[in-house]
Amino acid sequence: MSEAHLEGEVRNGPVIVAVANQKGGVGKTTTVINLAACLAASEKLTLIIDLDPQCNATSGIACESQEEPSLLDLLLDPAAHPQPLPHPTIPRLEILTGCPDLVGGEKLLSEMPDPAHCVRRILEGLSHNEKKYDFVFLDCPPALNLITLNALSSATHLLVPVQAEYFALEGLTDILESFEFARQNTNQNLQLLGLLLTMVDSRTNLSVEVENELRRHYGDKVFKTTIPRNVRLSEAPSHGLPIILYDIWSRGAKAYMELTKEILNNGA
Ligand SMILES: Nc1ncnc2c1ncn2[C@@H]1O[C@H](COP(=O)(O)OP(=O)(O)OP(=O)(O)O)[C@@H](O)[C@H]1O
Ligand SMILES: [Mg+2]
Repeated sequence: MSEAHLEGEVRNGPVIVAVANQKGGVGKTTTVINLAACLAASEKLTLIIDLDPQCNATSGIACESQEEPSLLDLLLDPAAHPQPLPHPTIPRLEILTGCPDLVGGEKLLSEMPDPAHCVRRILEGLSHNEKKYDFVFLDCPPALNLITLNALSSATHLLVPVQAEYFALEGLTDILESFEFARQNTNQNLQLLGLLLTMVDSRTNLSVEVENELRRHYGDKVFKTTIPRNVRLSEAPSHGLPIILYDIWSRGAKAYMELTKEILNNGA
């Protein structure tokens, strides 16, 4: 078994982080790609599983959807062998690519035995591989659907990106209710890794107000690190690169490296 360290504990098996928020465009995929790349650069063997049929995590690091088996095939067939792609240029980063057919796959999934645990079965399939991942990131679609429930049911931790904007806090209740639902019904060991403030523009009163409000409500559940609004972060995926390869000196790169440190040092 690999050993990944987090919050002072030595765990058996990978730290599995579901990155979820039913709100669209809040920075889920950007966080998955860039945290995963920073962890790989920190010598951690890291896997991304792209659970969003939009496949942005897949295209954002210049990969193409795998076929035979596709992610949907893997979800529907517990005996299928998941074969993550090693990223061509980033050592220690691997991906199980997204599958556009997952849009219609939800109904098929719901007809499976134990439909909330299809992703968990893929992870169990991976644990038979020689490779032992330190971190696995589950990039979720912008919905509280069966796929997201699967992610929450198989993860060890939940990370919720929160965009620094007016309605951000309202939507938070829904994802945190789903977190509680998963803890009570499908995955009692799930922990909240943290709420991550994204697209922060510290020159605006609104960003400052949202940050204050978030910290007042959720205290130390909010990461100390915040992610600034940074145009280099939005350009990087069109070049198929994580920010540390696209522009290591950008404020976005600095923020994601800081977040990586915060996660790795969290009491470890
Ligand atoms: N910190 C940032 N600064 C500037 N642009 C950003 C930042 N984070 C994300 N973006 C851009 O905002 C858009 C939405 O980000 P992203 O795709 O990561 O969100 P998402 O939550 O995964 O969206 P979806 O819900 O559709 O999956 C993208 O165009 C991305 O490049
Ligand atoms: Mg996304």
